[in-house]
This record gives sequence, C-alpha cells and structure tokens, in this order.
Amino acid sequence: MSQTPPRRGDEQFSGEVNSMFDRISGVYDRMNRVMTAGLDQTWRERAADRVRLEPGQSALDLCSGTGDLALALAERVGPEGRVVGADFSRPMLELADVKARNFGVAQVEFEWADTLDLPYEDESFDAVTISFGARNLADLPKGLSEMYRVLKPGGSLAILEITQPSRQPLASFFVLWFDRIVPLLGKFAGDSSAYEYLPQSVRSFPDAGALADHMDAAGFRHIRWTLMAGSIIALHSGVR
Ligand SMILES: C[S@@+](CC[C@H](N)C(=O)[O-])C[C@H]1O[C@@H](n2cnc3c(N)ncnc32)[C@H](O)[C@@H]1O
Repeated sequence: MSQTPPRRGDEQFSGEVNSMFDRISGVYDRMNRVMTAGLDQTWRERAADRVRLEPGQSALDLCSGTGDLALALAERVGPEGRVVGADFSRPMLELADVKARNFGVAQVEFEWADTLDLPYEDESFDAVTISFGARNLADLPKGLSEMYRVLKPGGSLAILEITQPSRQPLASFFVLWFDRIVPLLGKFAGDSSAYEYLPQSVRSFPDAGALADHMDAAGFRHIRWTLMAGSIIALHSGVR
C-alpha cells in the first residue's frame, strides 16, 4: 500500500491517524508481539498496576485499540467493577469486543469516543489509562485536560508510551530498529507507511521530562515516570 504516513501539524492529521489504524487493525496485535518480542503485554500489565485499582472501581482506557490494557484493568476491578475501553477506530473496537467475549470478560465495554472530546461526565472514573495512544493525539494538552476532567479527585492516570532514548548505545539501536527494521516489518505486514509513521510519531512526541511538564500543566500532581526496556518505553503516572 503506498499511503503517505500522517504528519503532525497537517489539518487532516486526526483523520489520517484514524484511517491508518482502521487499515492496520487486522495485523496490529501480531505486529506488536513481533516488534517487542512479546514484551508489550508486560508493559501494559505494569501500567494497569500503576493506577492501583481496587475491586469494584471504574476505569477508562483511552485509545484502547484492540483492548489489551482494558482487559488487564478488568482483571483488577473484578466482576463488580466497570471498565470502558474507548477508541475512534471501529475495526479496532470490534477486535477488542471479540477478545473480551473470547476471554469471557463481562465488566468491560468498548465504545467509540474521541479522546480529544470525551462523551463522559466530569469526575466519572477512578483511573484513566492510555497505552501507545498519546503520541497519536493531534492536541496533547487537550487530551490531557480531558483525562483530568473525567477522573475523580484522587484518581490516577497512567500513560504508557514509546520514548526516544538520548544515550548511546540505545540511541543508535533505536535508529536501527525503528527506522530500518520496523518499516521493513510493516512492508511484510502490508502497510509500510503505517510503520514509517511509528518512528516519526515517537520523534515528534515530547521526551519523558517534557511529557511530565504537560501533565503538570494539565493539573496532575505526584507525577513520576519509569523507563523500561533500556529507556525506550516510558510509564508516566499522576494523580488528580
Ligand atoms: C498504537 S494504538 C494503541 C492501542 C492500544 N492502546 C495498545 O496498547 O495497543 C493507538 C490507538 O489510538 C487510537 N486513537 C488515536 N487517536 C485517537 C483519538 N483522538 N481518539 C480516540 N482514539 C484514538 C487509534 O485508533 C488506535 O487504536
């Protein structure tokens, strides 16, 4: 497929990101497992732990995609709790739904929502999470202010994201892996532009310290972050 990767700053950015995820939904999980040697699920488990949910509580997983983090949250809130997995790609949501049904998880609902304009009331959830979604948002401050708005006071936010390492030898490994190998894998998966977009989107996203500053500006407190996988993955958290 010879599509052009979405470019941040373009007026059509959100729409292009949306159709790109519609297009790659069928290969998305498999590509994640291959690109991360299966580690991506461990990182999502850590994000789910970070928001410290209790049985019976509620959580919102934004940019939920095929639903893996939402399902990890569902385990933590148990059958009395409630999890909403929200995304603006219908094909991704359909796959998430099938997954939840296959696992017999009833306390999670997947629904269409734009992270930049959430259809939920103020102070609705005990926790909000977003994994590998924040760097796709056309307006990060707007997204963070929506996350803050729908969290209950005292509720936690966790953001899991790829981050660009600044130190050697990881920085060179990052270039080799994301600029050369990932687009090649994308070609085999049938959509090279989507996997050319991936390294571009990481580069145009704030580094770990700058993301923490954005969270602070949105009103979050007790902000901290952990770097994983040799500083390529960052897990940020904060409290409303
Ligand atoms: C890289 S995937 C991450 C999916 C999942 N959270 C995971 O951990 O694999 C990014 C997801 O964000 C969604 N997305 C991007 N921008 C969005 C927005 N403004 N509102 C809702 N979903 C959005 C895309 O449709 C896609 O499913």
